[in-house]
Amino acid sequence: MKIYAHRGSAGTLPENTIASFRATAILPVHGVEFDVHMTKDGELVVIHDESINRTSNGKGFIKDMTLAELKSYDFGEWFSTKFKGEKIPTLREVLYVFKDTHHHLNIELKSDVFPYEGMEDKVLEMLKEYRLERRVVISSFNHEMVSNFKMQAPQIETAILFMEVMIRPDDYANIVGADALHAFFPTAFRAMGKEAIASGRQFRVFTVNEEIYANMLQEIGVHAIFTDFPERMYQFLNRRV
Ligand code: G3P
Ligand code: MG
Repeated sequence: MKIYAHRGSAGTLPENTIASFRATAILPVHGVEFDVHMTKDGELVVIHDESINRTSNGKGFIKDMTLAELKSYDFGEWFSTKFKGEKIPTLREVLYVFKDTHHHLNIELKSDVFPYEGMEDKVLEMLKEYRLERRVVISSFNHEMVSNFKMQAPQIETAILFMEVMIRPDDYANIVGADALHAFFPTAFRAMGKEAIASGRQFRVFTVNEEIYANMLQEIGVHAIFTDFPERMYQFLNRRV
């Protein structure tokens, strides 16, 4: 079972920061996941929430701020004073960290609350520029955006994110144009988990931070987990095989 480092290594380092990505870039895990939003001036930035309230010393929605304004805030100190001075990274800065590594990149488009019109085009352009089209999977809880992305770039792997237990996930993925299924991990224990695995699509689950669940998921044949503790989980899973 493969491991994706979630938001960089969110359990031990400030999530979605360059400090976290640099540390993740030297880990032997299969991949890394991070979240993308769009600023008022149309720049793509890597952060989980719609606002900067939780993970910075500022306040407000990303959609209402320019990149220059966002760069004036601190995104490390909320986690630990050791990380004071961390700035919000742009997508470009994060891709640069991973441009020569082996990692599979899961770019999650966080367009489920605010629509971020034109986000797909900007992401696509950057992936072409960095020649990363074959080393990424584009996912979103906004399945309209997954569908649009697939229509524009059929060569790029896509995934639908979902929390619920679904009926016929394979048929739904076909309708959307998603290659893979990224699901909340308890869905794996239901009938749909079996169906998803049997469909031959990559079935990756989030967010798995406890070894006891990682073990159960590995036994039922889940292809990959997203975890906030990639280093610890890697040691655990590789000690057992
Ligand atoms: O992409 C997997 C996972 O990151 C989805 O949930 O809220 O952590 O972005 P969230
Ligand atoms: Mg995410």
